Amino acid sequence: MLRIQGGTPLVGTVEVRGAKNLVPKAMVAAVLGEAPSRLWGVPAIRDVDIVTDLLELHGVSVRPGEAGELVLDPSNVERAAVADIDAHAGVSRIPVLFCGPLLHRLGHAFIPDLGGCRIGDRPIDFHLDALRQFGAIVDKRADGLHLTAPERLRGTRLELPYPSVGATEQVLLTAVRAEGVTELRNAAIEPEIVDLICVLQKMGAIISVHTDRVIRITGVDRLGGFSHRALPDRLEAASWASAALATGGDITVRGARQVDLMTFLNVYRQVGGEFEVGEEAIRFWHPGTDLRAVPLETGVHPGFQTDWQQPLVVALTQASGLSIVHETVYENRFGFTGALRDMGAHIQLYADCLGGTPCRFGQRNFQHSAVISGPTKLQAADLDIPDLRGGFSYVIAALAAQGTSTVRGIELISRGYEDFLTKLTALGALIES
Ligand code: EPZ
Repeated sequence: MLRIQGGTPLVGTVEVRGAKNLVPKAMVAAVLGEAPSRLWGVPAIRDVDIVTDLLELHGVSVRPGEAGELVLDPSNVERAAVADIDAHAGVSRIPVLFCGPLLHRLGHAFIPDLGGCRIGDRPIDFHLDALRQFGAIVDKRADGLHLTAPERLRGTRLELPYPSVGATEQVLLTAVRAEGVTELRNAAIEPEIVDLICVLQKMGAIISVHTDRVIRITGVDRLGGFSHRALPDRLEAASWASAALATGGDITVRGARQVDLMTFLNVYRQVGGEFEVGEEAIRFWHPGTDLRAVPLETGVHPGFQTDWQQPLVVALTQASGLSIVHETVYENRFGFTGALRDMGAHIQLYADCLGGTPCRFGQRNFQHSAVISGPTKLQAADLDIPDLRGGFSYVIAALAAQGTSTVRGIELISRGYEDFLTKLTALGALIES
């Protein structure tokens, strides 16, 4: 539990390292190689620990290298006990991405029951349909999904019903060593996907990205290791930028890259946020004048990233006028607004596709649009963290509020934010744990 005294603008410099949504996938990709791989910029976050445990369970040695990198050696890949995988997977969804590499190396893979998280149901039907099309056999049992590949997996033509990041990664990690060519249509093209393609190409893969979300992969018989520096975490960078706005602060984010944040920076400027792009960092600060309300719609890249939404909503409670946020990626990503309302924010949820184009969730009774009227003064409260980004948003709200809040479940934030408390203290936050 954390006690947070509100009312102090966050001021100073923080650093973001490798992306939470790329690093674990690159670590899994190492299983496909027949030589060790080296990965730089690996953040000290819970998701990396979970993948390290799962890799070690499968005989992959994971150790720090001399130059701050992580060295992954897949020479002795072996089957792991189902119970161990279950025990180590926890709430992470990463085990589903082990399928392709393990089916190629061992002819067998296991997916424990992943379950959803508070932002949506998060099914894996696209993943399983793709794996079946490569020739894998999916056997649903009480303890989870057992996958086998009686023969070598074969390249295929696939079209995703929705440009899912995870399903695109699944296809990439499977197609690179499948027999023949795979053509994936309606693929995700997030910066983390492009960085994963760079990792696989360094291993010896043949992958081409075409216009209109088409990716073609020519399978190869053998892959080597990679040596790669992970792209910086654009989701963490945007979270600190929103924290600067919500608390009236000034934060320089070292490692943030403009090219990964262009859509976010446009919205930030429309709200009235100031930023300055430097060689190694981007500085974000509150203009000192009223923030402006905006209409906003989340979407797949290059749209406004859904994981940027929750922290920015806290800042929008301080903007003058009516902001409209249409969440089109997850059907249930406004659960965190209940606590903000208890703190005094004016936020109304709707099942309609407000302010934007009709999406998959329209007319299906999902509260996936929010109208935020501001500015409203936030009052301190007792907060229970619901999920990773919701958690960061609660801490920002507590910092912007009047009075002292208590926040429980901080460990959830460490799943995706490195050295979170140290950074907050360095920015002048008045916190006690
Ligand atoms: C990745 O999740 C990220 N997680 C998410 O970040 C991010 O929000 C998401 O991509 C979208 O950018 C990681 O990389 C670990 P999806 P993923 O498959 O791959 C539906 C964070 O806070 N879908 O693109 O699970 C799904 O339900 C996390 O950092 C199916 O219906 O996301 C969702 O509505 C949260 N069937 C939509 O697609 C499937 O088989 C997007 O999911 C797969 C997905």
